[in-house]
Amino acid sequence: MSAQIINGKAIAEEMLDQIKSRINQRLNSGKRAPSLAVILVGADPASSIYVRNKRLACEKVGINSIAYDLVSDIKESELFALIQKLNEDETIDGILVQSPLPSQIDEKLIIENINPTKDVDGFHPYNIGRLAIRQPTLRSCTPFGVIKMLNSVNIELKGLDAVVVGVSNHVGRPMALELLLAGCTVTSCHRHTKDLQSNIARADLVVAAAGKAGLIKGEWIKPGAIVVDIGINRLDSGKICGDVDFESAKDRAAWITPVPGGVGPMTVATLMENTLLAMELRGI
Ligand code: GUN
Repeated sequence: MSAQIINGKAIAEEMLDQIKSRINQRLNSGKRAPSLAVILVGADPASSIYVRNKRLACEKVGINSIAYDLVSDIKESELFALIQKLNEDETIDGILVQSPLPSQIDEKLIIENINPTKDVDGFHPYNIGRLAIRQPTLRSCTPFGVIKMLNSVNIELKGLDAVVVGVSNHVGRPMALELLLAGCTVTSCHRHTKDLQSNIARADLVVAAAGKAGLIKGEWIKPGAIVVDIGINRLDSGKICGDVDFESAKDRAAWITPVPGGVGPMTVATLMENTLLAMELRGI
């Protein structure tokens, strides 16, 4: 069997087109465009690329992106002050603080200080809690993007045995909550999991979010399974690859996402949608 490749890039492009026309409709009825404050602290090369992609997507759909490129030794109190100002600014609909942050800054505290109605990353404990109690509002972009991607190729999630590998606050945990909400039976695997291989081998759906190149071998995948690779790992050669050994996994899976061109573009498109939604939910 050779898997069908899920083209996240194409699905995300379609989403961006739809978001653009929703924004144009707003503009035509005299409303303003959404605006997103994008905060980058320091010059981590990977973060700089992610932020550039997010700003380019804003431009594409007509979201006004406001850049805050801050020095890496900024004081935590200064970042708090900026967040406070943006929370109170009626013209700002979304606030994104690119992670990771330098060590002098407590990332959890920064996230908790973002107004949950402007938390377009869906990282605030309020928004994670809403998802946990089946009343999602602003949903974490990568996990929600994965759900949208699977929906768009008509994969029925209800009843699937899903295994999520990785339990990070930003991706693995909300991913497990999304799949639970979608009706999957969910197992979360992590560094203390005794036998990763046997968990993967019985999964109808594997979602890899460990951030370890080649962690999941193709031979582990159940024939006919769905494989979603959220990992973005840079090899010494400069090549970007996921957590799953794509070449061997694609011979067993029914569906598989590539890296790059799979989940990554869905994250960015979902961020755009969240920014528009945040504005709409605030009645603007
Ligand atoms: N760093 C890596 N991915 C993300 C993301 O989706 N949002 C933010 N804020 N930081 C990130």
